[in-house]
Amino acid sequence: MQLRQQGKLILVGFMGTGKSSVGSRLAERLGWPLIDSDAAIVRDQNRDISSIFATDGETAFREIESRVLASLLKTPDCAVVSTGGGAVLKEENRKLMRKTGIVVALKASPERIVSRVLQDESRPLLDGDVRGRVYRLIEERKHAYDFAHFTLDTTEMSVDDVAAAILSMTNHVAKENT
Ligand code: S3P
Repeated sequence: MQLRQQGKLILVGFMGTGKSSVGSRLAERLGWPLIDSDAAIVRDQNRDISSIFATDGETAFREIESRVLASLLKTPDCAVVSTGGGAVLKEENRKLMRKTGIVVALKASPERIVSRVLQDESRPLLDGDVRGRVYRLIEERKHAYDFAHFTLDTTEMSVDDVAAAILSMTNHVAKENT
């Protein structure tokens, strides 16, 4: 089976592991569109992620996230899909992702994550004590990304190297499954 027939290349991982930048590099290299689930939520709701959390709360956000993700994954077209860090928390989402494409989990060291997310105020779950929240959430989610077909630690890697490694892993799968 070829990656192309697999339909979607889906990136999951904690905030700040590089899903968006790696996703756009992969999309460029494959000539596929990049679908970003957070951006799709913002379009669907016509408000930003922080406002959804502030007004409706996390539970409501998770419902919206699952609905939007399901509709993005329903299309038969090939695409690279970059997901929000908490999209893996619901089992229905995990099952759907594995069924619809090749799922790659990106990891990074907590300190690298902290340095990547520190300046960005768009993540409501990290408001306030960023370092403390990153460490607590990483601990809470330590097995949340284990369902992926592949896991890659991006701590010491450039975006280009991560994209190349993912393409080589997924081609390998494509060959093994032929
Ligand atoms: C979240 C991650 C964010 C966004 C929301 C919640 C999470 O996406 O979906 O702030 O629960 O990990 P990124 O992983 O793209 O930052």
